[in-house]
Amino acid sequence: MRKIPIQDLAAGTKFNRSVYLDKDTVLVSSGQPITQQDLDRLKQFGISFVLTDGELVTERESAKPGAENSNYLDTNLPLSHNDETSARGKYILDKANGNKVEFTALFKDCFELVQKTYRSASEGKYTEIREFRDIAERITDHVKSNPQLPILLFAHSHSGYYLYSHICYATFFSILLGTYLEFSRPKLIDLAIAAIFADMGMVTVPEEVSEKKTALTELDHKTIKRHPVTGYQILTQRLKLKNSLAIVALQHHEAVDGSGYPQKITSNEMEELTRVFMIADQFSAMIATRPYRPAFLPYDAMKLMISVNVNRFDLKMVRLFLNKLGMFPIGSGVLLSDNRTGIVIDSNKDKPLRPVIRITKDVEGNRLRLLEFVDLMIDLNTYIQKAIPFSQIY
Ligand SMILES: [Fe+2]
Repeated sequence: MRKIPIQDLAAGTKFNRSVYLDKDTVLVSSGQPITQQDLDRLKQFGISFVLTDGELVTERESAKPGAENSNYLDTNLPLSHNDETSARGKYILDKANGNKVEFTALFKDCFELVQKTYRSASEGKYTEIREFRDIAERITDHVKSNPQLPILLFAHSHSGYYLYSHICYATFFSILLGTYLEFSRPKLIDLAIAAIFADMGMVTVPEEVSEKKTALTELDHKTIKRHPVTGYQILTQRLKLKNSLAIVALQHHEAVDGSGYPQKITSNEMEELTRVFMIADQFSAMIATRPYRPAFLPYDAMKLMISVNVNRFDLKMVRLFLNKLGMFPIGSGVLLSDNRTGIVIDSNKDKPLRPVIRITKDVEGNRLRLLEFVDLMIDLNTYIQKAIPFSQIY
């Protein structure tokens, strides 16, 4: 990929291929404009160049029918209505846009640290826990100050090795749920450290097993099921992580009804941090593509969390997760009853089926050149027909 210096970029610049912060971390997808906020943040974070295989998209090319591909965060368009819903929607998207570069850089740093640590551990080398305190603090402070995080989290695209990116997604979702539970800052930092280390035992599972494309054999299952215990041993004996955090690794595949593993304990024997992490871990795993199945839509993942999988989780916490994110979680794509397409940008309290949506395509499927929002708590004649993949909202 070519290095493009930041000073060569201007607000509105587009490329016909994705633009990356590093080989795995997408800043903007193909055809999406880089915003002024992106540029300001890149400079603020001392990032001097971005990477792309693409060519610059000129104004003429982007004016071709079908070539326009406005960014879902782009608020540089005329408002369709001058009402309260539009003001709320624009405010939310502006905030999310302002936090995008910081979030992307933070996810990248998380991924790199996890990759370095897990790789070293698989070779029997162990790093200092101290390094993780810094990333745990940064993730905690970012999530606490960025209520629009789910919009960025669901749209974020990371192509690195699954285990490492999964750990970062699960950590962000853990802190999100921890903030919903109103945990103190020190408790959130503890939760982030516990989450980052929870799958440490996977370093003892051969890649041929963890990344297998076909059905797992009984022996494979046995190997995988050992990872909570081996992880706990590595964390307590080698990394000297305190027991109250390492215990999350030991317990994260248990179930509140006692049907999990390895100890078959029930809810009241489980640590609170474990009960939070389990929800984040499962949800993050479901919305990711795996070698043996496609990714679940966030809506389908949420549905499974509150139906089939409900006996695994702390009911109060799952309910809170649902209530805050919505049945069609913030950041996910939807098709409305009148065939308009959009992205959920906010939830309405206790109304998980009636969120606030940014419309991206009109009833005929044409990309909207206006900034239009619908609040399903106000527009009661409209409802969500179905969830759709993120790739279909533009
Ligand atoms: Fe695990």
